[in-house]
Amino acid sequence: MAQIVGGIFTSHVPAIGNAIAKGLQDDPYWKPFFDGFHPVHRWLAAAKPDVAVLFYNDHGLNFFLDKMPTFAVGAAARYENADEGWGLPVMAPFPGAQALSWHIIEHLVASEFDITMCQEMKVDHALTVPLALSWPGADTRPVTIVPIAINTVQHPLPSAKRCLALGRAVHEALRSWKSDERVVVFGTGGLSHQLDGQRAGFINKDYDHFCLENLGPAPDALTRHSAVDIIELAGSQGIEILNWIAARGALGESVREVSRNYHIPISNTAAATMLLETVTALQKVA
Ligand code: DHB
Ligand code: FE
Repeated sequence: MAQIVGGIFTSHVPAIGNAIAKGLQDDPYWKPFFDGFHPVHRWLAAAKPDVAVLFYNDHGLNFFLDKMPTFAVGAAARYENADEGWGLPVMAPFPGAQALSWHIIEHLVASEFDITMCQEMKVDHALTVPLALSWPGADTRPVTIVPIAINTVQHPLPSAKRCLALGRAVHEALRSWKSDERVVVFGTGGLSHQLDGQRAGFINKDYDHFCLENLGPAPDALTRHSAVDIIELAGSQGIEILNWIAARGALGESVREVSRNYHIPISNTAAATMLLETVTALQKVA
């Protein structure tokens, strides 16, 4: 049985990637956001995960509006990055946890999730920025990865309830994986932001705090809003919270909040970072 050590939830604004490339972490604009990763670095140094399962959304690099899977699971030996237009430095390829990918795919299909399996898959800023934030300056890859892309772009979108169920099915898959590897889960994107249209720049602190308060102890609360309601509440890109909801499901029932950071704005986004550690049955008794 793999050990699920915890979950890292973070915004993935592309400008963060440029700030990393330019070494702006202590710049007054960026510091309040980057400081939120110090507890994550300390925790990762102790938790020592081998594998990262990442719930994120592709922004047009690998999938476009003509062909858009609702849920896509990577099953590649390696994942190439490319610049989909933000001018970020292209990162070296990420090694895939291919055996785990197929185990997750088998379990999801057996659980009646009609996912798309991708033996080739390019990964964009929504995956690379959170990894670069978590392991700053890492040339060699500290983890192998399983990318799981959720459609947050082309309507109709999956419901929050379905995303939580997907995450819970991934949790079952991890629990039945015969390996002693340590798994960290990522949920990327959000929180509230809208990049386009009349509401460009829209941010909703109240909804963001509702999400941050409930994600750990009561994730089902986040499923009370439909996808369209979430777009009303969080903005047309704030719907990326679906990635956080799925990732929360993959952690299992009990979690403990290790750290939280919320800062407005980073670019157009209410930026947030949250670290949840899984609580085992033994820890609960203690
Ligand atoms: C921004 C935020 C995103 O989530 C994204 O994918 C692209 C841009 C932004 O705020 O600039
Ligand atoms: Fe995004």
